[in-house]
Amino acid sequence: MSIDTAAREQKVREALSEISHIATLPEITMQIINLVEDATSTAQDLQEVISNDPALSSRILKVVNSSFYGLPGQVGSINRAIVMLGLNAVKNIAIAASLAKLFRGGDLTPQFSAKMLWSHSNAVAITCKVFNDRLKLGLGDEAYLSGLMHDIGIMLEMQFDRNLLIDVIGRTGPDGEGVPANDMLGVELGVFGATHEDFGKGLCIQWKFPAAFAAVCGHHHDPMSAPEEYRKLACLVCVADRLSARIGEGYRLDLISTEIPDEVLSEIGLTVDQIEEWLPEIADAVSQGELPMAA
Ligand SMILES: [Fe+2]
Ligand SMILES: [Fe+2]
Repeated sequence: MSIDTAAREQKVREALSEISHIATLPEITMQIINLVEDATSTAQDLQEVISNDPALSSRILKVVNSSFYGLPGQVGSINRAIVMLGLNAVKNIAIAASLAKLFRGGDLTPQFSAKMLWSHSNAVAITCKVFNDRLKLGLGDEAYLSGLMHDIGIMLEMQFDRNLLIDVIGRTGPDGEGVPANDMLGVELGVFGATHEDFGKGLCIQWKFPAAFAAVCGHHHDPMSAPEEYRKLACLVCVADRLSARIGEGYRLDLISTEIPDEVLSEIGLTVDQIEEWLPEIADAVSQGELPMAA
């Protein structure tokens, strides 16, 4: 491990210990993620976990009844939702709805709010799911959930010190009028001593999330550097991240370019023609599919 990496990991540990009272994952999210990981889990298990949290149940039903799913008639119970949409879809909605609680904190600047980051995260998650299905990548639930979590490190920075994040945002972004492109990761290193990739990875480890999520959070800007077993997933999230930025949904200043390296495309077997063909449909799905913020 280089001294540089060690110093960044130390910064992440300091930040996590300072905000440990805030950066705890809702217990219910943890239980649902454990269910996702357990191949033997059943619809009954999921229904029991969800029904322990009435607020979460009602948020799930709101999403299930939204136009995105186009179900005939009102779905009035979690059981019914599982029958109509299947176990995996309801698990994803449940995790998304419980993760939404972490994306709070109002508007920081005109360029950034927790809500904008949540919109972006949803767009990336939906895009990951579409590509995973169409390209038959076989990445399962982890595709959608990785997209949802990839920038969670920015929320940790916001909770640790919002003024420092305002400083970072103010000096970050693609080419503007007379302002040269400035890479967020470089600015974060100067301001926080670590990047949102470092913070996101640290948070996933603290939460004892599946290793795939730590790999995606830690490598989504440079997915070829991810550990080999998670490289395909990291490449998928990188592609979805950049395409969501092209669609223009939510926060995107951590990307100075939306170009996608050829090696990243070929890792998931995606062509430029397919992107052009599918992007309008993905933009449609994203505009209809955004999950509501937590109440
Ligand atoms: Fe990012
Ligand atoms: Fe992103």
